[in-house]
This record gives sequence, structure tokens and C-alpha cells, in this order.
Amino acid sequence: MAKISTSMKCNHFCPQSLFLYGTYREDGTPNFGLFCWFSYYWDEDLGVMACIGDTKLTKDLIRKNGVFSANLVTKPLLPLADYYGNHAGYDPEKMKILPEVMHGAVLDVPILKDSPWSYELRVKKELNCQDGDIFLCEICNVLADEYCLDESIPIAARMQKAAPVVTTHETYFSLDQTPLCGWGEPQMQVKG
Ligand SMILES: Cc1cc2nc3c(=O)[nH]c(=O)nc-3n(C[C@H](O)[C@H](O)[C@H](O)COP(=O)(O)O)c2cc1C
Repeated sequence: MAKISTSMKCNHFCPQSLFLYGTYREDGTPNFGLFCWFSYYWDEDLGVMACIGDTKLTKDLIRKNGVFSANLVTKPLLPLADYYGNHAGYDPEKMKILPEVMHGAVLDVPILKDSPWSYELRVKKELNCQDGDIFLCEICNVLADEYCLDESIPIAARMQKAAPVVTTHETYFSLDQTPLCGWGEPQMQVKG
């Protein structure tokens, strides 16, 4: 098959899970923004890195508060998530549409009650680039729906129930695919 050189576009062929970052505004009301440049990193312990471009209310509030939540976006949450991703927090009307919110268990952060998997994050370090900033965060807690941690249910079934949403090519995909196999198993097919 011929190869074609191309320029890089947003998230192409690199599906990324979507999260709603929750912060408290100065008046104590919650703000949520939609983000996908989010992943784990390792530095003595497992942490997360979150990249936020440009100027955004979420970025201002993360800097001010030093903490935020990251709530996994699921299929039922997608309409709300897409709304929060297409409305700037600087518009005071944005948060007139407010889902059920609870308080974090260990940090002063708003948690989306309907998300089955939410991180409570504290910023350890901020890396400033030209126009984007990367926040390296300590995972202070994960608030999980009980079934997510129930090892008696196969992980494929738990993933299907959670139905996380990923994005690539400016398109949302569901992450309820069939599992392939475990780590370390496919290498058995490689003949030296
Ligand atoms: C699918 C999707 C993914 C997004 N991912 C990011 C991201 O990873 N980083 C970023 O800076 N903005 C991202 N955005 C844009 C923000 O969600 C958008 O600027 C939003 O207004 C931020 O909320 P805020 O203004 O309340 O801070 C994304 C938007 C969409 C629709």
C-alpha cells in the first residue's frame, strides 16, 4: 500500500477519552468544560496530564483553585458534554444548564453525579508552552460507581455498562467494542 505524507490534524487516528473538567467559580457555582487532551503519566506514582489551549475559564479556575475534577463522559452524558464543549465559560449564561452535582470526597471540586468515574485532581506542576499549558496532576481520589470496581463482573461488561465516549477526526465514538485479548497474549504469535 502506498504511503502519503500528510499534516497532523486534531486527534487523527488517536482516539482519546472525553472528560468534563469541573471547577468552582468565585461565587461557588460549578463550571464544566469538555476536554480530550488528557492522559496518565508516571512520576513515582500514577498521575494525569491535562493540556488546555488558549484562554479558557477552566484554565483560569484551575490556576486559581489548584484543584479540579475530571469526569468521564459516557453516552448518556454526551449531549450535555457537547454543549459544555461548545459554550465558553466566560458567558455567564453557560451554566444555566446544570446537571446533578455533588461535592468531591477529598477535594473542594464539583463532581458530576451521573459520571461513573471521576478524578479529584491537584495540580503539581504547570508546563507553559506558546499557546497551550500542560497541567501535571496528582490523583487525590477516584470517585467510582460501585460496578466499575466489581471484579466479579468481566471488565468488558463493565466497560459496556460505563459506555465511555472517545473522539477522533472531530467525531464521537462509543468505546463499547469487543475486547481483543490481554496484555502479553498476542506476543505468543510472534515467531523469533
Ligand atoms: C470534543 C471536544 C474536545 C475538546 N477538548 C479540548 C482539550 O483537550 N483542550 C482544550 O483546551 N479545549 C478543548 N475543547 C474546547 C473546550 O471544551 C471549550 O473551549 C470550552 O468552552 C471550555 O469550557 P470553559 O470555557 O467553561 O472553560 C474541546 C471541545 C470539544 C467539543
